[in-house]
Amino acid sequence: MSVWAKHKVFETKSLVLVIGILVTVAIGGLVEITPLFYLGSTIEKVQGMRPYSPLELAGRNIYVREGCYVCHSQMIRSLRDEVERYGPYSLAAESMYDHPFQWGSKRNGPDLARVGGKYSDEWHVEHMIDPRGIVPGTIMPGYPFLMKTPAWRNDIADDMRVNRMVGVPYTDAMIAAAKADFEAQANPDSDGAEAVAARYPKANIRDFDGDPSIVSEMDALIAYLQMLGTLVDFSVYDAAENLR
Ligand code: HEC
Repeated sequence: MSVWAKHKVFETKSLVLVIGILVTVAIGGLVEITPLFYLGSTIEKVQGMRPYSPLELAGRNIYVREGCYVCHSQMIRSLRDEVERYGPYSLAAESMYDHPFQWGSKRNGPDLARVGGKYSDEWHVEHMIDPRGIVPGTIMPGYPFLMKTPAWRNDIADDMRVNRMVGVPYTDAMIAAAKADFEAQANPDSDGAEAVAARYPKANIRDFDGDPSIVSEMDALIAYLQMLGTLVDFSVYDAAENLR
């Protein structure tokens, strides 16, 4: 049987052709994807990255629940206009503890990857309660109820355990102290505040919403917003040195 006759099998029997295509595509896929699981450098290790503190994690859950990602991206592209507007472009490592990641796909509002530290807590409180009070004409909805709703904390340790299962390096000590750290981060004068700072370097420890009576969803959400993009110190970050 000549080569052409063999090829005729593929050309005349569509099922054989489909199986042939699948096998070929699978080989291509394996060659491209398999090495990523074994390369140490798929995500470069970057100084400063740490898991979210329990309060930040709770804030992140609220961000996901309210669908903020529908209007906001969290990924600054390596294009000049983006870098000038938002700051250093996002590194893969900066979302390595995000499950699921919040890159988003649409920017009705600005990118939030480096919004941490850009505004005061009071600005965020006002803006979240009544966005049009600050930016007339904005289409962002108000979220005034966050002030009154206590942030849900009873299963935050379980949440951390699940994150650990997918690779976030929470230690046993972090999980054991989850609820205490949660309360302490929004109560700067409490005994536990120092422990939060030790366990989660660069964590902001403040009464974020200005109401010390409860740790509200507003506290959690602002704790999360204020740390976004602040962990990596770009004044000392050297992309070449970080490649291993
Ligand atoms: C319907 C779209 C929409 C949704 C949903 C939305 N936003 Fe916005 N957001 C905007 C727009 C538009 C702006 C720009 C004008 C302004 O500041 O209000 C903005 C601005 C912001 C800013 C200020 C960013 C900056 O750099 O000036 C923050 C912070 C923010 N939003 C957080 C949130 C959070 C948190 C949520 C979810 C609870 C959310 N947004 C939901 C549209 C939205």
